[in-house]
Amino acid sequence: MSITILGIESSCDDTSAAVICDCVLASNVIASQKVHEAYGGVVPELASRAHQQNIVPVVSEAIRQAGIKKSDIDAIAFTRGPGLLGSLLVGTSFAKGLAMALDIPIVDVNHLHGHVLSHFIKENEDSEVPEFPFLCLLVSGGNSQIIKVDSPYRMEVMGQTIDDAAGEAFDKCAKVMGLPYPGGPYIDKLAAEGDATRFKFSKPHIPAFDYSFSGLKTSFLYTLRDEVARNANFIEENKKDLSASLQKTIIDILMDKFALAIKETGIKTIAIGGGVSANSGFRNRVQEFAGLHSLKAFIPKRSFTTDNAAMVAVAGHFKYLNKDFCSLDLPPYARVSV
Ligand code: KG4
Repeated sequence: MSITILGIESSCDDTSAAVICDCVLASNVIASQKVHEAYGGVVPELASRAHQQNIVPVVSEAIRQAGIKKSDIDAIAFTRGPGLLGSLLVGTSFAKGLAMALDIPIVDVNHLHGHVLSHFIKENEDSEVPEFPFLCLLVSGGNSQIIKVDSPYRMEVMGQTIDDAAGEAFDKCAKVMGLPYPGGPYIDKLAAEGDATRFKFSKPHIPAFDYSFSGLKTSFLYTLRDEVARNANFIEENKKDLSASLQKTIIDILMDKFALAIKETGIKTIAIGGGVSANSGFRNRVQEFAGLHSLKAFIPKRSFTTDNAAMVAVAGHFKYLNKDFCSLDLPPYARVSV
């Protein structure tokens, strides 16, 4: 008997709903909130209001596109955290209400587990998925973590950032260059035409598998400050080289520790996930590294790198198999590690 899960994601600024049948994708609808662009970052109150407006049409559309009836759904999986509390409350409350109406169980999902398990979203029956254990480098606007994934239920964080996340480094440096928010994709585009060897920015010396990106951010800022003092048009004239050099440094930092963890554990299957894993330079470097060291690499489709409900539904699928349901009085949480 097949298992049909409706996933709901509302942790930040994307309202998303997806339907999966035995982990095979039937629909994945995402409504991105443009309202934040004018503010250079996500405004929590505006995000909650937009989720409130989007949630009913997004869920209805996901069910319609999947070609199922509400009565076909076996369980509803929702992101419980981490994220913005007001945003999470919208998805959590909606999931509970719909589950009560349909008299089906609900499954709470840790958003970060969703990113890691996004590699189990199948486009069709034959889609290849990672074997356990695998090492996942999860890089987003809020997290940079190396995770040893022993099973869908057992994940160990081997290392993580002690300050900024990789995505924050992209976004904050992009902001000082006058690029729109979020800056990561703009840096990615500019970097493709720039000289990555032109500027040198500082790299951290942090023990074990942990990351730090705040020193790089400061070094980037100081370079701009000194150069702009000499030439007011410096940023405009050097955007491509600055982007390429910054991107290369971020990827170097990410890959140095990831390589160390791969060597230490001897694990041969690796994966990346989270918003920054959409970065072209990063994707190429991981693929190259895997080829060089005879590793199997799982690089997510770009549509599964950013927040989406398909990954929440898949994480929910695994919990459903264990009958790991949650009660209707479970509150969302803003912060948690894997
Ligand atoms: O996982 P995600 O969608 O959500 C948060 O953690 O908020 O990640 C968003 C992050 C942002 O920092 C964004 O700039 C970054 O992912 N990002 C990228 C690219 N696409 C998204 N960074 C670099 N290159 C990209 N192509």
